[in-house]
Amino acid sequence: MQRKFIVGNWKMNGALTNNEALLKEVANGLAQMPTVDCAVCVPFPYLAQTQSLLRDTSIKWGAQNVHQANNGAYTGEVAVSMLRDFDCDYVIVGHSERRHLYGESNLLVAEKFAAVQEAELLPIMCVGETLEQREAGITEMVVAEQLAEVIKLRGVQSFRTAVIAYEPVWAIGTGKTATPEQAQEVHAFIRKHIAGLDEGFSQALCILYGGSVNASNAAELFCMPDIDGGLIGGASLAAKDFLAICNAGQK
Ligand code: 13P
Repeated sequence: MQRKFIVGNWKMNGALTNNEALLKEVANGLAQMPTVDCAVCVPFPYLAQTQSLLRDTSIKWGAQNVHQANNGAYTGEVAVSMLRDFDCDYVIVGHSERRHLYGESNLLVAEKFAAVQEAELLPIMCVGETLEQREAGITEMVVAEQLAEVIKLRGVQSFRTAVIAYEPVWAIGTGKTATPEQAQEVHAFIRKHIAGLDEGFSQALCILYGGSVNASNAAELFCMPDIDGGLIGGASLAAKDFLAICNAGQK
């Protein structure tokens, strides 16, 4: 079994004055956990602060979004080269909040995924169904369609240098976690789906679960065979909770 990977997604939270204490406490705690991998994806304005606080630690950092173009007249947007300037390793693409609140399509997500890989950063690509889609029994179809656009644009082998995060939309920020069995079922589907197209690799594919993961439910999720870690929203904002989740991911 591969090492667990725990990623904090701060979303639009944080403040210059509080981030330092949070990052220092997380870094100190992680220093005692050599068998788990960890990263935090922070708002753009805090990348410099995060870089300077984490550069000598085992924790990686990244962004939560990026524009698909390299540069140009796109007021308010951020290019992947700018993320490279702050030594980001990861960029979340296709988070359901971006898909639903900002209308990001599967194609746009695939283009962002491509831009991240072309800059030699690692995309963390989010997939997941809404409650309506789950109830209609089309979860696997929805997830397969989300993956398909990337496969079409970049080839299935592009997942060799990417992370997938399964985040059922109905479980995000609702306190309603997928049961370990529900999550496992979709993770196994994703792994099998990729294996069907890129045999020999799928065991190494890193598939995170996200959606109301907390200190009390992390361990039971992480012991599922196809759950390789977590993408943590709310609970990544409190060092104690985030560290407890990382601890649950230790081998
Ligand atoms: P919560 O952990 O707050 O439910 O958020 C999950 C998420 O969207 C992580 O990207």
